[in-house]
Amino acid sequence: MATSKAQFAQNKRVTLDPPRLITEPPLLQASGMTKRYGRITAVEEVSLEVYAGEVLGIVGESGSGKSSVLRLLNLEELPDSGTYTLDLPTLVGVNLFTLDRFARREAALHHIGIVYQNPHLGLRMRYTSSGNVAERLLVTGERTFATLRQAARESLNASEFPLDRMDDPPRVLSGGMQQRVQLAKAIALQPRVLLLDEPTTGLDVSVQAAVLDTLKGLQRDRHMAMVIVSHDLGVIRALADRVMVMRGGRVVESGLADQVLDDPQDAYTQQLVHAKL
Ligand SMILES: Nc1ncnc2c1ncn2[C@@H]1O[C@H](COP(=O)(O)OP(=O)(O)O)[C@@H](O)[C@H]1O
Ligand SMILES: [Mg+2]
Repeated sequence: MATSKAQFAQNKRVTLDPPRLITEPPLLQASGMTKRYGRITAVEEVSLEVYAGEVLGIVGESGSGKSSVLRLLNLEELPDSGTYTLDLPTLVGVNLFTLDRFARREAALHHIGIVYQNPHLGLRMRYTSSGNVAERLLVTGERTFATLRQAARESLNASEFPLDRMDDPPRVLSGGMQQRVQLAKAIALQPRVLLLDEPTTGLDVSVQAAVLDTLKGLQRDRHMAMVIVSHDLGVIRALADRVMVMRGGRVVESGLADQVLDDPQDAYTQQLVHAKL
């Protein structure tokens, strides 16, 4: 006999961790975000929340608004409407979208890291790789070269970048290594939020797998709230706990990753999933 929905929920509940559910609000909470570019509505009424230690995957075809959502969450752009809060001691209850430009930049630098698909967006291609990471550390006020270099080395090591290449500029490195430099820069200040926009798209399959392993390890060790955007469902499956499916700027379906990817309810999600089989 099929398990009833209520029984299923009951069974599921047993496996959850009640103290965490009761005591911890989401680390990241965005609500009703709408972003227009001229006549195009890139993001429409998108809400999402991510707990510390959780990975939210965003999928959807090209142009569905995924990168626009990440730019909002990275405070690179402001929405036409919506709220965004991080549950951090100095920011409780603050809608980050209402901060002035300097406070926004400060909040983003200290609490949010981002890796773009295109390394040119995240890196200075002609600086040394260690310099790229060290630059991010300057906001701490540290100016001692040896200390900055050591901190950059540690961050590059955490992103499993080959340290014998740390003085090479990104432009001479492979695509996989460039993404590791971006990652090292993104996590250098130990942010609580890590945003990844198609971080492994365009990499060879074996390189992609290695970068995904690094990301998994980092997530395990640092307990960040992670949001990964990809049109590659394999990448989402490998990393995400929950998935949000976007189409035309809107969220059409969301839920646990296995549930959404194995048993999609929305016709568009079904199309996406079957296209990848
Ligand atoms: N800076 C911009 N100026 C004008 N239109 C934009 C801009 N950024 C994104 N768009 C438009 O917004 C929509 C969503 O784009 P995007 O967020 O890049 O989607 P995705 O990352 O899912 O491919 C697209 O129609 C795109 O052309
Ligand atoms: Mg995009």
